[in-house]
Amino acid sequence: MKIFIDTANVEEITRYANMGFIDGVTTNPALMATEQRTAIDVIKEIVGIVDGPISVEVVSTDAARMVAEARHLASLHENIVVKLPAIPAGFEALNVVIQQGIKVNFTMIYTANQALLAAKLGATYVSPFVGRLDVTSTGGAELIEEIVTIYDHYGFETQVLAASMRNSIYVKFAALAGAHAATIPPAVLKAMIESEMSQISLDGFLEQWETLPEASKASLFDGVEE
Ligand code: E4P
Repeated sequence: MKIFIDTANVEEITRYANMGFIDGVTTNPALMATEQRTAIDVIKEIVGIVDGPISVEVVSTDAARMVAEARHLASLHENIVVKLPAIPAGFEALNVVIQQGIKVNFTMIYTANQALLAAKLGATYVSPFVGRLDVTSTGGAELIEEIVTIYDHYGFETQVLAASMRNSIYVKFAALAGAHAATIPPAVLKAMIESEMSQISLDGFLEQWETLPEASKASLFDGVEE
């Protein structure tokens, strides 16, 4: 499963990219606003950090203007994937921009039927909002399973990008359901890496190691270079 990082914070993106985990980045207008920086500078920095799909969202709600914004965003860098919202105007815009060769992440998906239609139009990715669905209803994890199953039935090439991953359990659900990718905020990536038991186990091993005489310990690491 591809791992995308769900933030516009370049320090966090750099940190996790340096750990080797990151295949792509997703932003949205709210994440961009969180940074309180000039938006174009942020996007230029991100494409320089991660060589993979970088999702950037349109901000208009009118189909013609969405198409214009999508064209502009796609022209900024070859790795930009344009996020279009799953509203009627978004479907209209999707149908136009896909035929112009623009890669689209069709976002804010809450039903399997929205995902079916987006795939039919040729969206590159669909983003089911798992965490947000569970806030008002249930079935976030099931939604991913449903979409993966439908895409498998018909051989759609659209990839399922599990989004709104508000805790690490959702990432496991996405992986078990066979999502092609998940986009994960830095705090959830941190939670995926850490286990209190790993730290406790290590502390125990090192405590026992200290009971060895100094000379016996040193012999194992003689010649180690920084
Ligand atoms: C990513 O594409 C989405 O914009 C993001 O995952 C939404 O996450 P949230 O529901 O936690 O804001």
